[in-house]
This record gives sequence, structure tokens and C-alpha cells, in this order.
Amino acid sequence: MSDPLNTLLCQRLGCRYPIIQTAMGWVARPELVGASCNAGAFGFLAAAVLSPEEVGPAIDRVRSITSAPFGVNFHMFQPGAERIVDILIERKVTAVSFGRGPDKKMIARFRDAGIACIPTVGAVKHAKKMVELGVDMVTVQGGEGGGHTGSVASTVLLPQVLDAVKVPVVAAGGFADGRGLAAALAYGAQGIAMGTRFLMTRDCPVPQQTKERYTRAGTDDITLTTKIDGLPQRMIRNETLARIEKAGRLRMLLLALSSAWQMKRLTGASITELLGAARKMGHAGGLTLGQSVMAAIAPVMFQRSMIAGEPQRGLLATGLVAGRLNDLPGCDELVAGIVREARSRLAALGVPASA
Ligand SMILES: Cc1cc2nc3c(=O)[nH]c(=O)nc-3n(C[C@H](O)[C@H](O)[C@H](O)COP(=O)(O)O)c2cc1C
Repeated sequence: MSDPLNTLLCQRLGCRYPIIQTAMGWVARPELVGASCNAGAFGFLAAAVLSPEEVGPAIDRVRSITSAPFGVNFHMFQPGAERIVDILIERKVTAVSFGRGPDKKMIARFRDAGIACIPTVGAVKHAKKMVELGVDMVTVQGGEGGGHTGSVASTVLLPQVLDAVKVPVVAAGGFADGRGLAAALAYGAQGIAMGTRFLMTRDCPVPQQTKERYTRAGTDDITLTTKIDGLPQRMIRNETLARIEKAGRLRMLLLALSSAWQMKRLTGASITELLGAARKMGHAGGLTLGQSVMAAIAPVMFQRSMIAGEPQRGLLATGLVAGRLNDLPGCDELVAGIVREARSRLAALGVPASA
């Protein structure tokens, strides 16, 4: 009898369970990727916030923690993207994920190298476009999801995409437990992808005081804002976000410039270079100067929370699901619990619970 949890996702990516730990900037560092892979999930290293020089050593670090396969996330607008692509091919990672993605030629390069391309999409038209470009699977992120996110909920978007494309589909946005995995499989997805749930683990290297903001947050403490870079992003409300949301044009510019000095100290990039980066990232037009600078220096705001452990001075990207989670399990415990619960839900529906 076949195991309902041994899906195409497991077969294609070589992981034990149909669970992906998604990439999260400054969060999905080698420690988290290694721990989630060792637990039987498939982890993605967040390289969209790394320089080309940092990518190789980060991949090696994951390989020092786990012998399991894993993937890397990047986007084509980041500095040195072409070099990063070469590094991923040289190091033969198992899969790549991306939001704003490579073109057909680039996808063909990955495929020729045997690397699976699994973009994240937030709309049916993007899923169709990605499939036309030749990707292997798509991760569909419903509006509940963390980071930049769309407006259509998983319950509506997932079946829409399943109906629209023929490649394997992975469900993301709001998933955190075995009930969600069983439901996603019932929809016809090949597994689930989770960001926030993996951020909220003991193995995640984000400082404890920042993780406590996530465990304390209820769903009412989570909001969608376009104030950071013009695109909708889900955040836990905090002191910094309140200041940004209330700020008029001038105040916004001053707030952004004060962080821009910090960004210059960190990266050596001038304000002009920062503005150029913001423009290249293809953000929605019509941003004020303050908003453009804010978009460019957003990385500093995320680093303050995720690296420096100053959640009140930084920004807290999250999925809505953080509002119902208040624990920090280890990845082992988390994945084992999801698998146990999914099997029990499937058994309750008359599906064989194990292989
Ligand atoms: C803190 C945080 C940072 C994120 N950074 C990235 C990123 O760098 N690249 C990316 O493609 N997606 C990023 N995302 C989106 C996640 O990879 C994932 O698609 C999303 O969290 C799924 O929804 P969930 O949080 O409800 O599980 C981020 C999400 C969060 C919460």
C-alpha cells in the first residue's frame, strides 16, 4: 500500500516528508536549513540577502550540518545575481526558489544542471507564466502568508492554481500543522511549504527576544502594509511600523535617511546606489522619495530584528499564522508532530495512515 505522505515532492527533492521550510531573509540561515533537513523536511537557504561571496560558504555550512538535500532562494535583481547562479550550479544544490524570477534561458540552465526550479507565486497568472518558462513545480502562497504577499487566501488560490497548471503544486500561506498538511494533500497539492512556523522554532537562529514578539502576537497584532516598499507585506505591529505608518512625507524621508546612514556604514553603499537598488527591484511606481529610500534601506530594519535582536527598532515580517502559534518547538519535534497529526487526520478520513 503506498504511503500518502510519500508524494512527488519527496520523490523529486529527496526529502523524507512533503514539507518545505521556505526561505526567509536573515532567518533561513544555515542553522535553520540544516535542522529542518535533518528533521526530514526540505529546507531553502535565504540567499536573496547574501552577497555572491557569502553564498558558497553558507552552502558549505549547511552541508556541514546535514547530508540531506536542500535548496537556495535568490532573485535576479540582487547584486551579483549572475554570479550566484553560477555558484548554485557549481555547488549542485538540489533546488532553487525565487519570487521575482529568472527568464527561460536561466531556468533551462538550472534544469540542464539537474536543479529543480520551484518559484513561489501569489496569483494564477504568475503560476501559468512560470510553467510556460519551464519550472518543475510551483509553490502557491495564499494571502495569509508571510513577507510580500498577495490578496487571495490559500483556500481560494490553491484550487485555482491546481486547476490551471499541470506541474506539481506545493501549498503555502498559513500552514503550520498536520491538519494543514492533510488538507493540502486533499486539495491535490504535493505538500506544504511553511515560513513563519519554521521561524518560530528553537533551531531558528533569530534572537530569543525577537522570537518572543512572534509567540506573543495574536492575529489582531498582525497587519498588511504597503508603507515599507510600496508592495503589500505582512508584519507584526510594533513601535517602528507604527512610526512608519503614521509618518507624513517629510517624516518618512527623515526616518528613512536616519537608517540609510546605518546602511551606508554596514554596506558602504551611497544613497544614490541605494535608490538605484530600490528602482531595480521593480517596486511599484509612484513612491515618494522617502518611500523609495525606505524600500532601499528595509534590509537594515529587518536585520535589527532578525540579527541584532532589537525587535522594537526593526521590522517583523510574518505570516498571519503567527497569531495562533505560541510555542518554539525544535524542528525535529515540529516535523514529527506534523507527520503524526497528518497521518491521524488522513486515517480518520479513511486514507491508510502509513506505508
Ligand atoms: C520573515 C520572513 C522573511 C521572508 N523572506 C523571504 C525571502 O527572502 N524570499 C522569499 O522568496 N520569500 C520570503 N518570505 C516568504 C516565505 O518564504 C514564505 O513564502 C511564507 O512565509 C509562507 O507563508 P507562512 O509564513 O504563512 O508559512 C519571507 C517570509 C517571512 C515570514
